[in-house]
Amino acid sequence: MMLQAENVSKTFRSGNRDLTVLKDIDFRMNDGETCAVIGPSGSGKTTLLGLCAGLDRPTTGRVRLKDVLLNDQSEDALARMRNELTGFVFQTFRLLPSLTALENVMVPAELCGSDNARNRARALLTEVGLEDRVHHYPAQLSGGEQQRVAIARAFINQPRIVFADEPTGNLDEETGAHILDLLFDLNRNEGTTLMLVTHDHELTRRVQRIVKLKNGQITNAQPSTVNH
Ligand SMILES: Nc1ncnc2c1ncn2[C@@H]1O[C@H](COP(=O)(O)OP(=O)(O)OP(=O)(O)O)[C@@H](O)[C@H]1O
Ligand SMILES: [Mg+2]
Repeated sequence: MMLQAENVSKTFRSGNRDLTVLKDIDFRMNDGETCAVIGPSGSGKTTLLGLCAGLDRPTTGRVRLKDVLLNDQSEDALARMRNELTGFVFQTFRLLPSLTALENVMVPAELCGSDNARNRARALLTEVGLEDRVHHYPAQLSGGEQQRVAIARAFINQPRIVFADEPTGNLDEETGAHILDLLFDLNRNEGTTLMLVTHDHELTRRVQRIVKLKNGQITNAQPSTVNH
């Protein structure tokens, strides 16, 4: 088992009101599995991804990545685990503005002391079609280019599981298809587990399982019968 979320709920407090976004979610992923999370805007997709990746903590319930119970981990231990085990592509990319594309991709590798970071980062940027943008800063890149830098960054530590929030959201059809090929090649060749949030029909066609969020809960749907 790669990922196990049990009875997970998330309540946000805003002002003096509580907003429960996820209610008693049970969700698992086997090693090497691929899954797409779909649902309307505001249904909690990004929130669920963040909880599963250990970026945020649930209000109730337990999350295990591999066999490690995330609830028990300190912030430092969580950060280390995320860096070693996971790759995360944020919906809003979250590139560091003062670093170039190349430096952004290198960050996770440098954090764990990898000595080949620069060459690997360069190779990954080439794979996502950005070989002539490596020295650009995020502000000098288009939205789709920033997204591809974020995807390259998510790959650099050879993660066991990749979480990607709308990974093709800002890409044209051809570039999007190429990024999906990269993601699914990684899944096929390295057994990387993929948990993807998407509205992209092409992507939902390619995953093994689709999970639909509605009113804070999961309803399962099959790829062929999915209704966006
Ligand atoms: N930190 C927060 N504090 C308060 N409310 C939050 C917070 N984060 C998210 N929410 C609320 O939780 C709900 C779910 O947000 P989330 O970002 O998970 O939705 P989503 O399904 O990813 O939507 P989209 O498709 O638009 O990206 C939203 O109504 C949002 O306003
Ligand atoms: Mg979202």
